[in-house]
Amino acid sequence: MKTILSVKNLKKYFSVKNSWGNDVALVKALDGVDLEIESGKTFGIVGESGCGKTTLMRTLLRLVEPTSGSVVLSEEIVGEQGSSNKLEELSSEELRKFRRKIGVVFQDPMGALNPRMIIKDIVSEPLVIHGKTDRIREKVIELLENVGLSEEHLYRYPHEFSGGQRQRIVIARALALDPKILVLDEPTSALDVSVQAQILNLLNDLQKKYDLTYIFISHDLSVIEYMCDRLAVMYLGRVVEEADTDALFSNPQHPYTKALLSATPSFDKNKEKIMILGDVPSPITYLDESKAKLATEMTEQEKLEIKAIEGKGIDYIVRSSLNDVPPLIQISDRHYARVR
Ligand SMILES: Nc1ncnc2c1ncn2[C@@H]1O[C@H](COP(=O)(O)OP(=O)(O)O)[C@@H](O)[C@H]1O
Ligand SMILES: [Mg+2]
Repeated sequence: MKTILSVKNLKKYFSVKNSWGNDVALVKALDGVDLEIESGKTFGIVGESGCGKTTLMRTLLRLVEPTSGSVVLSEEIVGEQGSSNKLEELSSEELRKFRRKIGVVFQDPMGALNPRMIIKDIVSEPLVIHGKTDRIREKVIELLENVGLSEEHLYRYPHEFSGGQRQRIVIARALALDPKILVLDEPTSALDVSVQAQILNLLNDLQKKYDLTYIFISHDLSVIEYMCDRLAVMYLGRVVEEADTDALFSNPQHPYTKALLSATPSFDKNKEKIMILGDVPSPITYLDESKAKLATEMTEQEKLEIKAIEGKGIDYIVRSSLNDVPPLIQISDRHYARVR
């Protein structure tokens, strides 16, 4: 196994201010994340909305500065000339070079494409910014052909395309500078199911062709299962379970992973059902203890719901905050979970 990038005890706390501008609380969006991303493979990050997936991606691109922790880059990314292999220590010139090695695809292609620009300019923009302007027209046509579009699309505007085609344009642009890694943040969540499959297959083909490493963020486990070699399940800013995809799907350990898996639609009527009750607890920590509200406390309504489903063969877990977090323990060779 060859590691391309590793994340070490990464924390990102956002401060919440009151109307006088004083800090009153911290949102622990990432609270000590460790990951090893393997070169040429697809690493999935799954978890429900608010668990810190996008913050993790933004920290990996150094669009936000981490509160603490480190992102260690392999030679494949920094090359040999670099003075440091830590993302947080790169000079601005080194950061510019690093950004060429990592492409990004977001969920909403319309938001990512400037509606006033034609496709030729959108796809060539990264090449122009990085001064790679020789044979730029040929390069743009090649990029479009790679994603199933062609020369005839060069002079059109984003609104003239369907959602799936727009995501193809975003992918073409993300590949313009020959990156090693693509970070894909919910790349198909905004698309119709039939189009989703085409985009996922396109991504798989491109990965083979260019030996790309993918960091694939999604809340959709069926997409994750289809795409990923390995994955981390996140809950409230932490990794609660990490394993190769087969091991995680066949032998989930953490109650939250089990609940997520049981919630994916299935035709199997005998499949075990686990319900997750309550809202996602807030990742906020109040600085003044007296203002802290207990995220773990169950509401009366939730207690009633539990009573109602007891005896119907449905298991349940209650969401909890991670005040008392078990350490990640090793389950088998490459499988870790926070269980006791
Ligand atoms: N710039 C910010 N300022 C304050 N809180 C933020 C900021 N960005 C994200 N958060 C908070 O951090 C937590 C994680 O958010 P995010 O990373 O967007 O989660 P996800 O992508 O998994 O839905 C959420 O509680 C969110 O409200
Ligand atoms: Mg997100």
